[in-house]
Amino acid sequence: MRRKLALIKMGGSVVTFKDRPLSANNAAISGIARVISSLKEIPIILVHGGGSFGHYWSVRYGMHTKPARYDAHGISIVHQSMIALNQIIIGSMIKNGVNPYTVCAMSLINHNIPLKVKIDQMYAMARTGIVPVTFGDVIHISDGKYSILSGDVIMTFISKILNPSKVIFAVNTEGIYRNMEEKQTIHEVTGSKVIDAGLFGNAREQTPTDITGGMRRKVEEALKISSKGVEVMIVNGLKPERVTQAVQFGPENFEGTVIRARSRRSGRMR
Ligand code: IPE
Repeated sequence: MRRKLALIKMGGSVVTFKDRPLSANNAAISGIARVISSLKEIPIILVHGGGSFGHYWSVRYGMHTKPARYDAHGISIVHQSMIALNQIIIGSMIKNGVNPYTVCAMSLINHNIPLKVKIDQMYAMARTGIVPVTFGDVIHISDGKYSILSGDVIMTFISKILNPSKVIFAVNTEGIYRNMEEKQTIHEVTGSKVIDAGLFGNAREQTPTDITGGMRRKVEEALKISSKGVEVMIVNGLKPERVTQAVQFGPENFEGTVIRARSRRSGRMR
């Protein structure tokens, strides 16, 4: 059964200015913090991305999602930059009346497998007045090998274990675009062939500074989540009321793209 829970990812393109190294988008962060503060009726778990913090240093130190023995100094710097961004986000939440609690990705995952007991604890916390916050990070996999774990993948881990009633990716576009020229939003997607068919304009986008896969990764993870029967909403996080709409009204009445639970054979868009 689906749990009354909103799992929300604040993309790095929302919480930072992706083209300016190490710069947080304070207005966007406090916009979302105010939304979270107003949503009293539903437990919330937050995940945030790295944007121009984690991605910037990961590129500088040649670090990727592939487990490897990366430069030790680089590992510390990437992790520190994510903690710095998390501090800005947490500070804004507290200022706006939210009670956040940071849980590092490293403590949720062992050998790349999510720890159910820890993720269940996040839900218990969310039910009792705390908003657990975690984020994409560099994590130790095994034997001195590390990898960059995207917040998008954390969304899939948490969704599989907690089966939330609302799963939302807040990004810096209106949703998934049909093509990049007209930027016409696709409202609903059902199907598994979406990326292979090359149908989506921005879902194929990946910039060299997006070491975890950009919009494409988000869509891939959204498809994995939806395959478990949970529809995923992609909304413009720079317009915080879109997040409110998605949480309050769900896929029937929101602005953005919903990825419906998929069937193996068919694909459908509208
Ligand atoms: C990236 O997390 C974390 C690091 C680069 C350390 P995400 O993959 O979730 O970040 P965004 O949302 O794409 O910026």
